[in-house]
Amino acid sequence: MRRVAPLAAALLACAMPWLAGCAPSRDGLPAFYASRPRFEQPFAGQRVPKGLKSLSAEECGSCHVAIYREWKQSVHAQAWVDPQFRAELAKQPGVSWLCINCHTPLVNQLDSLVVRLEGGDVERPVKRANPRWAGAALRDEAITCAACHVRDGAVVGPFGGTNAPHATRLDPALRSADFCLRCHQAVQAYPGKTFVCTFDTGAEWKAGPFAAAGTVCQDCHMPPVERPLVAGGPVRRVGMHGWIGSHLKKGHETLPALWDSLAARRPPGVELRADTLVRAVPGAPLAWRVRVVNVNAGHMLPTGDPERAVIVTLAAIGERGDTLAREQVRIGQKWEWWPAPRKLADERLAPGGERVLTLRVRSAPRGAWTLAATAVNERISDANADFHRLPESYPRRAEVARLEVRPRR
Ligand code: HEC
Ligand code: HEC
Ligand code: HEC
Ligand code: HEC
Ligand code: HEC
Repeated sequence: MRRVAPLAAALLACAMPWLAGCAPSRDGLPAFYASRPRFEQPFAGQRVPKGLKSLSAEECGSCHVAIYREWKQSVHAQAWVDPQFRAELAKQPGVSWLCINCHTPLVNQLDSLVVRLEGGDVERPVKRANPRWAGAALRDEAITCAACHVRDGAVVGPFGGTNAPHATRLDPALRSADFCLRCHQAVQAYPGKTFVCTFDTGAEWKAGPFAAAGTVCQDCHMPPVERPLVAGGPVRRVGMHGWIGSHLKKGHETLPALWDSLAARRPPGVELRADTLVRAVPGAPLAWRVRVVNVNAGHMLPTGDPERAVIVTLAAIGERGDTLAREQVRIGQKWEWWPAPRKLADERLAPGGERVLTLRVRSAPRGAWTLAATAVNERISDANADFHRLPESYPRRAEVARLEVRPRR
C-alpha cells in the first residue's frame, strides 16, 4: 500500500479570487499549462536583459554585493538544494513537475516541461525536453534574482529611472503582497490523492489587521535600510533580501553572522507573558499562568507548511535540577493523510491572538526553585525527518522565546 508522508508541502492549486483568470500566451510554455491554476505554471521564460551576460545571481552579485550576500543566506536561495525538498521530490517523482514551479520558478530553470497528463492524472505527466533550459547552475539558484526581477528583457525594480548599466523598468507590483502570493497562496485538493496544497498565508493576512492597515509582506520580511544599491551609488531605501521567517536555519548559511543580524531585525512571532512576581508558600499548591501571544506575525502563527508548529513547555524545576511539574502544548495544525487528506484540528494563533497555559505545582518546595517557559519553532517532527532520512545536521527546531521566574515566599 502506498503511503505518502505528511507531505506538507505537497502541493497545489488555488482558486483564490486574486489569482484567478490569468493565462495569456506563455513565453516558451506548452499550451497545457494554460489550463492549470496560476501556481502550477512556471514563470515565463526570460531573455538576458541588455547590458548583462546571463541571468545568474552571481553576475547580479558582482555589482549588488550586499543584496546578493543576504539573498544567499535566505531560504529562497536554498529552495532547490534543501535536503528536505530533495528527499520529498525523490519519494514523489510523479508530482515533481508541480513542486518546481515555485521552487525553481523560471522556464529557463526547467530541464523538461509537461505537455499533458496521462489519463488526466497529476502524477503521470508526459514531458518533453525544454529547449530554453539554461543548465543546472541556474536551476540550483532556485528562487534567484531573475525570477523576481527579470521581465520582458528588462530588470524590473521599485524605482525606475536609475542609472543602471542594464535595461530597467519600474514595476510597482514588486511592492505588493500579491507578488509574494504567487507562491505563498495556494490551496487545492487533489481528489483520490494523499496530498494537498495548503499554503494559505495570503488569506490569513487578508483576514487580519495588517492588510487593512496597508502593511504588506515586504514591510516585515524585507525590512528597509538606507544604503546604496552598488558601491559608490546614491543612498536609497532598500529592502533587505533575507526573508527571515521562523528563525529556523537550514544548515547551509554561508555567513552565519550575517544571518543572525538579519534575524535580529525580524523578531519571531511568539512572545511569552507571565507575572514576574510569583509568591509561593512551601507545601501549598501553586498555579502559574503563561500567555502565549502572536505579537509579530501578520498571519497565523505558524503559517505555510502544515507540519510547522510552536511547541510551548512550562516546567517547575527544583534546586537540584529535578522536574517538579511539566506541561507542554503543540500549537499548529493536525492532518490525517490516509485514506484522504483531512484537517483534523487547527490550533494556530491569529495575529494578536493568544493561548493561556497553566502549570500546576501540587506542593511548592522549600529552597530555591524556578518556573520556566520556552517556545520552540518546529519545522518537522523527528518521525517525519526519519521517514525522509534527513541528516541530523538538518535543523528541525529552534528555541525562540524563554521566560524564567524565581518564586518567592
Ligand atoms: C505554490 C508554490 C509551491 C509549490 C507548488 C510547492 N511548494 Fe514547497 N514551499 C512553498 C513555500 C511558499 C514554502 C515555504 C512555506 C513555509 O516555510 O512554511 C515551501 C516550503 C517547502 C519545504 C520546506 C518546509 C520547511 O518547513 O522548511 C519543502 C521541503 C517543500 N516546500 C517541498 C515541496 C515539494 C516536495 C513540493 C511538491 C510536492 C512543493 N514543495 C511544492 C511553495 C511551494
Ligand atoms: C555591472 C553592474 C551591475 C550588474 C551586473 C547588475 N546591476 Fe542592477 N544596477 C546597477 C546599477 C549601477 C544600478 C543603479 C544604481 C542606482 O542608481 O542606485 C542598478 C539598478 C538595479 C535595480 C533598480 C532598478 C530600478 O530602476 O528600480 C534593480 C532592481 C537591479 N539593478 C537588479 C539587478 C539584477 C536582478 C541583476 C542581475 C540580473 C543586476 N541588477 C545586475 C548595476 C548592476
Ligand atoms: C517563486 C516563488 C516564491 C515567491 C515569488 C516568493 N516566495 Fe517566499 N518562499 C518560496 C519557497 C519555495 C520557500 C521555501 C523554501 C525552502 O524552505 O526550501 C519560501 C520561503 C519564504 C519564507 C520562509 C522563511 C522561513 O524561515 O521559513 C518567507 C518569510 C518568505 N518566503 C517570504 C516571501 C516574501 C515576503 C515574498 C515576496 C517579496 C516571497 N517570499 C516571494 C517561494 C516564493
Ligand atoms: C523573492 C523575490 C526576490 C528575489 C529572489 C530578489 N529580489 Fe530584489 N527585490 C524584491 C522586492 C519585492 C523588492 C522591493 C523591496 C522593497 O523596496 O521593499 C526588491 C528590490 C531590489 C532592488 C532595489 C532596492 C530595493 O530594495 O528596493 C535591487 C537592486 C534588487 N532587489 C536586487 C536583487 C538582486 C541582485 C537579487 C539576487 C541576489 C534579488 N534582488 C533577489 C524581490 C526579490
Ligand atoms: C506584521 C509583520 C508580518 C507581515 C505583514 C507578514 N509576516 Fe510573515 N512572518 C512574520 C513573523 C514575525 C514570522 C515568524 C513567525 C515565527 O516565529 O514562526 C513570519 C513567518 C512567515 C513565514 C514562515 C512560516 C512561519 O510560520 O514561521 C512565511 C512563509 C511568511 N511569514 C510569509 C509571509 C507572507 C507571504 C506575507 C504577506 C502575505 C507575510 N508573511 C506577512 C511577520 C509578518
